[in-house]
Amino acid sequence: MPVIALVSNKGGAGKTTLCVNLATALARRGTAVILDADPQRSSLQWRAIADRDDAVAVVDAVDGLADAVRAAARRHAHLVIDCPPSVQAPQTREALGLSDLALIPVQPSPLDLWASVHIEREVETARERNPGLRAVLVINQLEPRTRLSQLMRQGLAELSLPVAETAIRRRMAYRSSVLEGRTVLDQGGRGAAAAEEIRQLIREVVRQ
Ligand SMILES: Nc1ncnc2c1ncn2[C@@H]1O[C@H](COP(=O)(O)OP(=O)(O)OP(=O)(O)O)[C@@H](O)[C@H]1O
Ligand SMILES: [Mg+2]
Repeated sequence: MPVIALVSNKGGAGKTTLCVNLATALARRGTAVILDADPQRSSLQWRAIADRDDAVAVVDAVDGLADAVRAAARRHAHLVIDCPPSVQAPQTREALGLSDLALIPVQPSPLDLWASVHIEREVETARERNPGLRAVLVINQLEPRTRLSQLMRQGLAELSLPVAETAIRRRMAYRSSVLEGRTVLDQGGRGAAAAEEIRQLIREVVRQ
């Protein structure tokens, strides 16, 4: 029963985008549920416009995350937690204490890189309570041809946390699908390349 938390120390890193796409892909190999622990409740908003029975369920877990995890673990094979944009937020700290895997999206920008240093420390603290916690950085909104994107891997290598081989590219499909309460996995050909990188990320980082 992997519990995966999407964590970052910056707004707009891509937590919610990865959360809904990963949970949807995981739901196709078993059952999955999203626990929205962010007071902005963006995953819940996504689910509200989804208007389809087969979309992944989203539970409000802004208060009482531990109870929500316990309840969801009885019924679902995969739990994906969407966190607020700060590692100091109580929900993020709680999520790090309850998860098997923290996925940390970072955009190819120095500001995101610097903010990741705080996560490194927070992960170390969380491991005192939750020694099994794995944490992996995921480059999001990669634009392979830009120099900044190329330099990003070098910069991230300075941190002690591992970086996923699979990077998520900047693609319109991620934006347009969320607008419709969908994911890149249900966009047919338009979302095919994005869907493949989501599945690849799962193969790389999620222990089944
Ligand atoms: N790979 C991507 N390609 C294109 N757009 C993206 C990608 N990832 C995220 N975005 C866009 O970037 C914006 C921020 O993403 P998102 O809301 O997922 O970040 P977040 O970390 O959840 O933000 P917050 O901290 O506010 O919760 C959104 O408009 C989203 O559509
Ligand atoms: Mg979000």
